This record gives sequence, C-alpha cells and structure tokens, in this order.
Amino acid sequence: MDKPIASADKQRLFNCAMRAATAGNMMLYSMIEVSDQSLKDKLAVSCDNQPFIAKAPLVVLFLADYQRMFDYYQAFGADKWAEKQGRKFRRPQEGDFFLAINDALIAAQSMATAADSIGIGSCYIGDIMEQYETHREMFNLPQYTFPITLLCFGYPHHADLERRLIPRFDEKFVRFENSYRRFEDADLVHLMDRTEDWQYKGKPHMYEEGNIGCYQYQRKFDADYNKEMTRSVKAALKNWKA
Ligand SMILES: Cc1cc2nc3c(=O)[nH]c(=O)nc-3n(C[C@H](O)[C@H](O)[C@H](O)COP(=O)(O)O)c2cc1C
Repeated sequence: MDKPIASADKQRLFNCAMRAATAGNMMLYSMIEVSDQSLKDKLAVSCDNQPFIAKAPLVVLFLADYQRMFDYYQAFGADKWAEKQGRKFRRPQEGDFFLAINDALIAAQSMATAADSIGIGSCYIGDIMEQYETHREMFNLPQYTFPITLLCFGYPHHADLERRLIPRFDEKFVRFENSYRRFEDADLVHLMDRTEDWQYKGKPHMYEEGNIGCYQYQRKFDADYNKEMTRSVKAALKNWKA
C-alpha cells in the first residue's frame, strides 16, 4: 500500500539499522532514503522495470561504503604518515569491498526485520546492482561506494498479511554439519519440490524449455538482467580498483 510510513516508525527502522553489527565498528555502509519521486520513477525502470518501486512509500538505498573511512584516514594525514614511514599508502581492495558489503547487508536486514516486527512489509531489490553507471550518476556516488541493495517498505494489504508463507527448500539441502555437502543428481531434482508450486503454478508454458530446471536456468541464471548485473559489478570493481 502506498500509505506513508509514520515518521516515528521510520525513525525506529533507521535506529535499528544504525545498531546493526558492523566490522570493527567502522560502519562501512551508508543509507540513502529516496524520497524524490523522479528518482523513484527512474529506479522503477533502471532496476529491471519493477513499477512498484515508484509507489513504495519508503525506499532506502544501501551502499557498501569504504569512502568515508578512507577519507577519514586522509583527513588525519595517514597518507603522509605512510609516506614518511616509507610505506605505500594503501587503498581499499577487494577484501575491504566485501567487508563493506557485509556491513551494508546486515544493516539492511536489521531494518527489514524491525519493519516486519511492527507490521511493515519490505522487499529487496537486487537489481540495484545493475546499471552501475546510471545509479552512480543518480545518487552522486564516489569511487569507494557500491549500491549493494535497495529496500522498499510499505504497509501490506490485508490479503498479503493473510497469505501463507512462501515455502523455502527442504532444510537438508541448506544446513550441514562440519563440512559442505554436494548432492547427487537424484537428490537435486527434488531441490525445488516445495517451491515449484508457488513459483510456477498456472504457468503452463513453463516446461517449454524441457523441464523445471531448464526453465529456472533460463529465467533466473541465463537471463538478460543477470548478465547486466555481472557487467555492472565488473565495471564497479574496475572503478574501485582504478
Ligand atoms: C538479494 C535479494 C534480491 C531480491 N531482489 C528482488 C527484486 O528485485 N524484486 C522482487 O520483487 N523481489 C526481490 N527479492 C525477494 C523479496 O525481497 C522477498 O524475499 C520475496 O518476495 C519473498 O518473500 P518472503 O521473503 O516474504 O518469502 C530479493 C531478495 C533478495 C534477498
């Protein structure tokens, strides 16, 4: 529903995100509330054409952000200090990037869980990782940031509240002890047994490609949006390393 989120509730959500666990207490993430309707309209297109983004009353962009800490080091002269010590001044690398991603996603999920606890629904938009150049321009993103996820919040319709939980895989496929387990084909063909109905019911064309596995491969893995995501992430990493 597009009913606005009460400002006290919104503040509660941000408070929870701000209390999220963070590596070295460095808070390697930033949150941009997207309140400008023209930006929401653009996101609804750039994130693989998902019109509900434009209607969501609260949209929050989560950035993996090493820029702030890196600027902080320089503000204290760490670059000159390193030079004086005869050491190369270090710039954020892949490991730092992944750590910042951890921080950003933990903050996002803290906000999503808090929202759920007060009856506000949320939806992640993974497609924000696409179109890196467009999003960088839209939100004025500096080099050591990356838009890792977007969360849309809203009050659910009554019908949504009553809907049954969307099934997940059988736990045996996901939970292991002490060591990773790979599955034989005979087990793997049952991976989506529980989710198949929810995902593909009423879509008679679904088996056109041969079987559910081929359909899933084509729709989720070999899809254009997924290829764009890879291109976009590569471009961002190249920029990060430049
Ligand atoms: C990384 C990630 C990316 C997602 N991207 C999208 C998306 O772009 N569009 C969408 O409708 N749902 C997306 N989802 C799914 C929703 O957030 C939500 O999990 C899904 O609709 C299932 O609902 P449930 O979690 O209540 O079972 C994404 C979820 C995750 C974790």
